Amino acid sequence: MPTINVAALAEADIPGAVKAIQEAFADDPYNNWVFDKSNPCTQFNAQRNAASLGIRCRWGMRNGIFHVAKEEGSDQVLGVACWLRPQKADKPQSWNDWLEDWKLWLNQVSMNLYYGRGGLIVKRYYIWKEAQAQAQSSVWTDPRGYYFLNIMVVVPEAQGKGVGRQMMKAVTDQADAEGMNCYLESSRDKPNMQIYGRFGFRFAKELECDDHGTAIKLFAMVREPNASPQDN
Ligand SMILES: CC(C)(COP(=O)(O)OP(=O)(O)OC[C@H]1O[C@@H](n2cnc3c(N)ncnc32)[C@H](O)[C@@H]1OP(=O)(O)O)[C@@H](O)C(=O)NCCC(=O)NCCS
Repeated sequence: MPTINVAALAEADIPGAVKAIQEAFADDPYNNWVFDKSNPCTQFNAQRNAASLGIRCRWGMRNGIFHVAKEEGSDQVLGVACWLRPQKADKPQSWNDWLEDWKLWLNQVSMNLYYGRGGLIVKRYYIWKEAQAQAQSSVWTDPRGYYFLNIMVVVPEAQGKGVGRQMMKAVTDQADAEGMNCYLESSRDKPNMQIYGRFGFRFAKELECDDHGTAIKLFAMVREPNASPQDN
């Protein structure tokens, strides 16, 4: 296996990062649920999805920890990981966070005006946000907050070769040094819960996202500092 480097996402990496996310999530259960891929009038719009992901990437570069994995000497993005830093439960939102939230919202609105909703079933997005808020309120017991793994993908041809482990380690090492917990929501039980178990994450709670019987499950997982591998 050639040398893989994990580095902060740069502007030039964004098209490659968007492509990697789209490829790795092409058949993702959450994506298939939240985007209407069947109705020709409201079909999934890959261009709109790319614009939306680009906005997310730029927001993540400023506000989160956004990493890309690339083979040494190559510009091809093999993996992407986006984390949100721990937020203290009792800390009010800063002016900067507030401005950044508005900026994200305004960018998303202008994108919607340009492309339309692109198949996003907005109601389902809010069903997920509600299930997520409920899960986090019961699972997030540490008032210092959690490193929240928001996106983690490795392109299909590079999966199973240690790229995910290297991207994971870049932040779990930091969390371990600070004695902080990590959190993620997996959209698959198999094999992802086993894979995340190898990094020390243990299954914590099921999120049921139910739109009148059309339902999916997500799997909330937590990793304590210096956790050893877990069987999930
Ligand atoms: C999940 C994902 C990010 C993992 O990255 P990866 O580069 O494939 O993982 P690695 O090769 O670093 O393997 C990590 C560990 O999981 C194990 N593993 C890998 N694939 C596995 C599988 N299919 N079943 C069980 N264990 C597996 C590896 O053995 C390794 O453990 P070890 O280092 O202790 O031997 C990647 O497979 C992926 O992008 N999948 C599709 C998109 C996705 O589902 N993203 C997550 C959304 S929640």
